[in-house]
Amino acid sequence: MPKRPRIAVVGSANVDLTTFTDLFPKPGETIFGQKFDLGFGGKGANQAVAAQLCGAEVFMVARVGSDLFGPATIENFKKLGIDATHVKQVAGVSSGVAPIFVESGGQNRILVVKGANDELKPSDVDAAAEMLKTVDCIVLQFEIPLETVYYTIAFARKHGIRCILNPAPGQPIDVDGIKGLDYFVPNESEAETISGMPVRNLDDAKACAGKLLKDGIGRVIMTLGANGSLLASRDGMEHLPAFALKSIDSTGAGDAFIGSFALFLGEGLSEREAVRRANLYAGLSTTGVGTQKSFYDRARFDAEWKARNES
Ligand code: RIB
Repeated sequence: MPKRPRIAVVGSANVDLTTFTDLFPKPGETIFGQKFDLGFGGKGANQAVAAQLCGAEVFMVARVGSDLFGPATIENFKKLGIDATHVKQVAGVSSGVAPIFVESGGQNRILVVKGANDELKPSDVDAAAEMLKTVDCIVLQFEIPLETVYYTIAFARKHGIRCILNPAPGQPIDVDGIKGLDYFVPNESEAETISGMPVRNLDDAKACAGKLLKDGIGRVIMTLGANGSLLASRDGMEHLPAFALKSIDSTGAGDAFIGSFALFLGEGLSEREAVRRANLYAGLSTTGVGTQKSFYDRARFDAEWKARNES
C-alpha cells in the first residue's frame, strides 16, 4: 500500500459558468446557446480536487469573495474532504468566476475574473506556514498574484518541499522567480507565451522545452492535449502519448493532469509512470461535462488503468 501523500495547493478557486455553443454573438446581437452548467472550478481548486479524489490528503490555501459563491466554495472543499482551514472570505470583493464556452468538439474558451484570488498574498502563505511545512508537495498556478507564486516557490525550496508550478493562464514571468521549483507544467499556449517560441507540433514542443531548460528551469512537462505530454529534463526528452478517448469537454483536463501527477509522484512512482497515469486521468476527465465534477475517483481510475495495462 503506497503512503498517502500530503499535498497543499496555494491557488485559485472560481465558480465556472459553462455555456455549450458553436456560435458566438456579434456586438449588439442576442443568440441562443445549447446548454448551461454551473460548477466549482478554478485551476487551484480543480487540482486540489483531482489530488484528493486520487487519494491524497489535501490542504487548500485560497481566498474567496463576500458573495453567495464564497461560503459555497468553502463548503465544497469540506464536503470533498479537503482541509479548508486556510481558505478565507475577503470582504468587499467578488469570488473568482469563469464564464466558459465549450464547442461541440469539446474545445473550450475561458475568461477568468480573478476577484478574491488576487487577494492571496505572501502574508497568507506565512499564516499557513506551519501546515505547509508538513506537506510533501506544494502545487501552484498563475490565477493568484505572481509575487505570491514566487514567494511560495522560495518557501518550498527553503523547506525542501517538492514544488509543481502550472503557469496558467500563461503570462510573461520572471524566470529567476521560479528557478527553485521541481516541475514546470505548461500546456502548448502557456509554453509559447512564456518562452516566446511557437508550439504547433511535437518538434516545436521539444525546441520550446529545450529553451525553458536552458533558461534555468530544471524539469518541464508540457501537456499537449490529445497528443499526450512531453517530459523534458537535462537527461533527455520523452513523448508520452495520450490514450484514445471520446472527448466532450476538455475544460479542466490540465488541472486533472497536475493534481493526479502530484499524487502519483507522491506515492513513489517514477516521473515517467506518474506522467503516463496522469495522461489517462486527464483524458478521462474530458469524457464528462465540467471540471471537478468530471474527475474520476481512484477506484474508477484504477479500473480504467488496469483495463488498458493488463492483457
Ligand atoms: O482549467 C480550467 C479552469 O480554468 C476552470 O475551472 C476555470 O475556473 C479557470 O480557472
